Amino acid sequence: MASPRLRVSRRALLAGLAVGLGAGPAFAASKRHKTKSAAKEPVPDPAADGTPLAFPPVVDLKDGETCDLVAAPADHAFLAGHPVPVVGYGGTYMGPVLRVRRGTRTRVRLVNRLDRPTNVHWHGLLVEGRFDGGTTPPVAPGGTWEADLAVDQPAATLWYHAHVHGRTAQDVHDGLAGLLLVEDDVSAGLGLPATWGVDDLPLVLQDRALDAGGRPTYVETAAVMNHGFRGPDMVVNGIAHAVAEVPGRLVRLRLLNAAGARTFRLFFEDRRPFRLIATDGGLLAEPSELSVLVMAPGERAEILVDFAEGAGVLLTAPDEHEHRDGPKAMLLPDVVDRPTRVLAFRTVRDERPTAVLPARLVDLPPLPTAAATAELRQRRFELRMTGASPAPTAPAAHDLHVMGHAGMTRGPGGVGELAEPPPIGTINGRTFASGRIDETVRLGTSEIWEIVCPDMAHPFHAHGVHFRVLSEDGDLPKAWNRGVKDTVRVENSARLLITFTRPADAERPFVYHCHLLEHEDAGMMGAFTVA
Ligand code: C2O
Ligand code: CU
Ligand code: CU
Repeated sequence: MASPRLRVSRRALLAGLAVGLGAGPAFAASKRHKTKSAAKEPVPDPAADGTPLAFPPVVDLKDGETCDLVAAPADHAFLAGHPVPVVGYGGTYMGPVLRVRRGTRTRVRLVNRLDRPTNVHWHGLLVEGRFDGGTTPPVAPGGTWEADLAVDQPAATLWYHAHVHGRTAQDVHDGLAGLLLVEDDVSAGLGLPATWGVDDLPLVLQDRALDAGGRPTYVETAAVMNHGFRGPDMVVNGIAHAVAEVPGRLVRLRLLNAAGARTFRLFFEDRRPFRLIATDGGLLAEPSELSVLVMAPGERAEILVDFAEGAGVLLTAPDEHEHRDGPKAMLLPDVVDRPTRVLAFRTVRDERPTAVLPARLVDLPPLPTAAATAELRQRRFELRMTGASPAPTAPAAHDLHVMGHAGMTRGPGGVGELAEPPPIGTINGRTFASGRIDETVRLGTSEIWEIVCPDMAHPFHAHGVHFRVLSEDGDLPKAWNRGVKDTVRVENSARLLITFTRPADAERPFVYHCHLLEHEDAGMMGAFTVA
C-alpha cells in the first residue's frame, strides 16, 4: 500500500472535518484469487507486476461547514520508491476527494502555501460566477479565498483544479487538481456498486514524462503550446504501472481524464464490454454497452465492468493528433505508436453478491424538437490555433515523432528548436483578454451553441453550465457524448443545447475554453456573463 499520501493527509488539511482515508486497506486485506481457466499450463497473469493503486483520501463536506483546502508543496512517488517534490492540495499530489451532498451549502477556503499565485475552479459544479474560480484573481502566496458552494445538481463525478490564466497546464501537471463528488438520493437508491475503493473506484488518468528518477518533466516549447504536452508514462491516481485489486463482480470505475492534452481511447485488452452509466454531469437515462470509450481532457465517465471473468487490463490507444488544414496538414504521431497500459486489474475473492444493473437510471429532460431548437438563440464559436505553423521546412513526421519523445522530456534542442512563433489560441478570431466580455447571456434561458473546429479536434468546456450535445457533424452524438455534459471533444462541429441557471457578472464572468490546457493558456478562451 502506498501509504505516503495517506500519512500526509492525516497530518494535513481540513481542520474540523472528518477525513475518510479512502479504501486503501481493501488492498492489504484482500487475497489473490486464481482465475478460472481451462488451460492446464500456468496462465500468465498480466496484472502480476505493478504498484498497488492507491486512492486519494475522501473529505465529506457537511452542510454549513467551512473547510480549508491548502495548496502546498508535497512529496509523491509516481514510480514506487522514488518520491519527488510536487504540489497538491492538503499535502498530497493532487488533493483529497471532496464529497458534497445535493442540497447542502459549504464553504471552502483556499489557502495558498505555494510560492506561486493560485486559485481554484470547481469544474462541473453549478455555482455563481463569483464562486466558480475560473476568473478569480490568483491568490498571492500566503493568501486565502473563500467559495460558497450551494450544491443543487444531480450526483456526478466532478473535479477541481487551479485556473490561473497562462499557467493552468503547468499547474495541473504539477498536481493542482482533485476530484469533487456530488451525491444524491436518486443515485444512492439505484443499487449501483458504492463501496468506495472496493467496487467504486476513482481513477484519475494522466500522462506524464517521468525521468529515471521518477520526476515528471514538463517543458513548455512552442510545439508543446501548439499541440499540447504528451508523455509516454500513464499514471492513475498519480501512480505509474498501477494494479488495482477488484472483487470478481460488477465494479464501478469513475474515470477522469486529467491529462492536459491527451485524448484517451480506452478499452480492455480482452475487449470485454462494459457499461457506460454516467458522463460529466451525472447518470445517463440508461446504461449503454460499449467496448471502447473516448475521453478528452476534462471529461469524466463512469463505467460498470464485470470482473467475474477474472483479471483485466485497461489500455489506451495511441492518441491521433491531427492538424487538418493547409500548411498544418500533418499528422503528429503520439509519443507512443501502440496501445499503452493504463491500469491492470487483479481479481480477488469476494463473497458479496454482484450488483444488479438497473435497466433505467435517471430521468433526463427530453431533448427539444428541431422546431423548438430553431426558436432558441444561436451562437457560433470557431476554435483555432494561429501563429503556429511549422517552420518553413516542416520536419518529416518521423522527426516529429522522435522530437515528441525526446524534445518534451529533455527540453532544449528538441521541439523548442523548431523556430515556430509562439502559438495563439483564438475563439472567433479573438484571443482571451481578461476584462473583456465576449458574450452576454440571459439567466434562465437556453441557447444553441455551435462549436466549430476547422483545424483539429478541441475539447470545448464551459463554466457555470451544463449542456446536452444535440449533434456531432450533423449526426447523433456518440455514446460518450450523451447525457449531461460540461466538456465535449469536438472533432469538426457540434451543436450544444446549453441552459444558463447560475448568474455571473462582468467582474467574475464564466469562461468557455478549449480544455487542451496549453490551448486554454494560449488564449483559446472567452468570457460570458449570465444575468
Ligand atoms: Cu476544467 Cu476552465 O476548466
Ligand atoms: Cu470548468
Ligand atoms: Cu484546443
